[in-house]
Amino acid sequence: MSKSIRASGDAIADRRAGHAHNYATDGDFGAAAEVMAQALERAPDWAAGWDLLGGYHEKAGDVAAALAAWRRLEALDDEGVFGAGLKLAVHGASSAAAGTAEGYVEALFDQYAPGFEAALVDRLDYRVPELLDGLLDETMAELGIDKFAAALDLGCGTGLMGARLRAKVARLEGIDLSAAMIAETRRKGIYDYLEKAELTQYLARRDAQADLITAADVFIYCGALPPVLAAVGPALRPGGLLAFSLEVHDGEEAVFLRPSLRYAHGVDATRLALADAGLQVLQFKLATLRQDRGAPIAGMLIVARKPA
Ligand SMILES: C[S@@+](CC[C@H](N)C(=O)[O-])C[C@H]1O[C@@H](n2cnc3c(N)ncnc32)[C@H](O)[C@@H]1O
Repeated sequence: MSKSIRASGDAIADRRAGHAHNYATDGDFGAAAEVMAQALERAPDWAAGWDLLGGYHEKAGDVAAALAAWRRLEALDDEGVFGAGLKLAVHGASSAAAGTAEGYVEALFDQYAPGFEAALVDRLDYRVPELLDGLLDETMAELGIDKFAAALDLGCGTGLMGARLRAKVARLEGIDLSAAMIAETRRKGIYDYLEKAELTQYLARRDAQADLITAADVFIYCGALPPVLAAVGPALRPGGLLAFSLEVHDGEEAVFLRPSLRYAHGVDATRLALADAGLQVLQFKLATLRQDRGAPIAGMLIVARKPA
């Protein structure tokens, strides 16, 4: 199922959905939900319609009705491209197990790819590749590293991290869940090798080949950190580095899902997960990663090393 299917196939339902959209644009989400529900009477199997209805109910403050809409959505959306499980989980109505986000993340970035850099860099002041690159420069100077032999950029996206790494790396590989993001970055010719792959599955097929692994703004879509670090460790050569970012929160939880459908991690839990994975922290910095809906997003930037 493609998330881009925004028409129901029923002309009357589409017209009603258009009216609902107009109400929502005017900020009247209660009326939008009422008219959208009428649209869905004509097209009860229209997944995108249930997604819209859930969103209108949520914005109108009727969480119970939003959850009911997303449960209908979940039943219709086998591949999870609309992220119903995540939306339910934000409200504590589902556990959002690891893996449920994959279909959603892939569809999100497939849709986002052509406008990704303009949206994130130009409008939202996205700084993760720049900040991680700065930390890597410091680490290289401290450790006397001239160049990395083999680097792997997880969730490479359109290649913003790769562009910064290129001069410090002999061989640069990138992987990403989204084919459209890979297509954007392929055009730039930054990477020696690119593949569409889910990162833990890709890492599981690798030997300890990389002396640098990066993940800029990627693990925020993966949930709990320990399984990710368990996958990264064996793919690093002894002495190899992992450089990555996370969104940070200051609550008790190791990790929780935000309404943005991105995960935020706790500082203590992150340090513990790194230690448990046998990775030694070389750099640990708190910084603003980007803006989101007018507010700064605080994050952690980390460089860790697998013992030699
Ligand atoms: C916010 S973008 C960042 C892209 C790039 N690293 C950068 O800094 O510009 C997140 C990227 O991670 C990818 N991604 C998220 N979860 C992934 C996973 N489990 N496996 C592979 N790629 C993933 C997404 O498809 C998306 O391209």
